[in-house]
Amino acid sequence: MTAAFRSVIAGTGGYLPERSLSNAELAAWKGIETSDAWIIERTGIRRRHIAAEGETASSMGAAAALAALAEAGASPAEVDAVIVATATPDSAFPSTAARIQGRIGATRGFAFDVAAACTGFVYALSIADAMMRAGQARGVLVIGTEIYSRILDWTDRGTCVLFGDGAGAVFLRAVPTAEAGGRGLLSTHLHADGSHADILVVDGGAGSTGGTGVVRMSGREVFKHAVTKLAAVVDEALAANGLGHGDVAWLVPHQANLRIIEAMGKKLHLPLDRVVVTVDRHANTSAASIPLALAEARRDGRIRSGDLVLMEAIGGGLTWGAALARF
Ligand code: COA
Repeated sequence: MTAAFRSVIAGTGGYLPERSLSNAELAAWKGIETSDAWIIERTGIRRRHIAAEGETASSMGAAAALAALAEAGASPAEVDAVIVATATPDSAFPSTAARIQGRIGATRGFAFDVAAACTGFVYALSIADAMMRAGQARGVLVIGTEIYSRILDWTDRGTCVLFGDGAGAVFLRAVPTAEAGGRGLLSTHLHADGSHADILVVDGGAGSTGGTGVVRMSGREVFKHAVTKLAAVVDEALAANGLGHGDVAWLVPHQANLRIIEAMGKKLHLPLDRVVVTVDRHANTSAASIPLALAEARRDGRIRSGDLVLMEAIGGGLTWGAALARF
């Protein structure tokens, strides 16, 4: 049965902390034994943004949300729901989503967080889409916001050079299917395999150690899973819609590592100039990376109305997923 509504991406927005550090600047600041050449060769990362002392996941997420509302020409009064993907919430509760709802002055509806690490934005998008198709909400903010600089072990060079801070958001509007003209989210595809929980993990938390913990990762293992699982999930998304590689206008991947991104572009027969890449300047901003990339490519005119956009991500859990949307 065709749903009565389509979830159309009406606005996108991003926020990056002002401070941007090159690989060399970061290494000097934190006393990390590494080199610019090693980081660029292995990951493609050249710089990352680091939040200032007073900034939090909710302050950055609110800035991105307001930018998304502005692009959509929507007011906070149109927001029925705020769904936030984050691994770095301001506090265990209230949720970062509720804090953002308060910060932007949205007074109706509901708000909650989603925990799926770097796949969080795709998970949150999927939940929003299902609720909108079911008629439960007509205007939804989906936000990814992360402040990994607070959960890194700065003595572990295998992880601390990989991440950055930032936030991205989309505002989804429910449009009657008959009026959507094919625009909106086509489908979302979610997966998890908890048997690999330990290869990418924050080694503490409120309910275990009582503390926050820091990121630990078996980089090579994560890399292997990323290449195979992302390849499978993009095929799944295209097949579910009877589409082929040639139908995709833009690949907007999670930005963890340029080598993984290039492998996905190759698999889809997409040249790198049809892939939105931000990892060189943002590093891995986890759940924020896809909406930040969407916002950048909308602002500079690359993603246009009618373009089919394929999003994919993998992260701690392991979790992975994909989403197809027509702008
Ligand atoms: N600078 C310099 N050397 C470093 C380094 C750094 N920042 N980090 C690790 N090394 C060293 C290691 O100590 C090791 O040295 P050794 O051989 O003397 O022990 C060597 O480089 C190789 O380490 P390894 O971890 O095997 O490197 P790698 O080629 O697998 O690259 C990653 C490491 C993290 C870049 C890579 O595994 C990766 O990108 N994995 C996927 C990560 C990812 O995408 N995670 C997020 C998913 S959401």
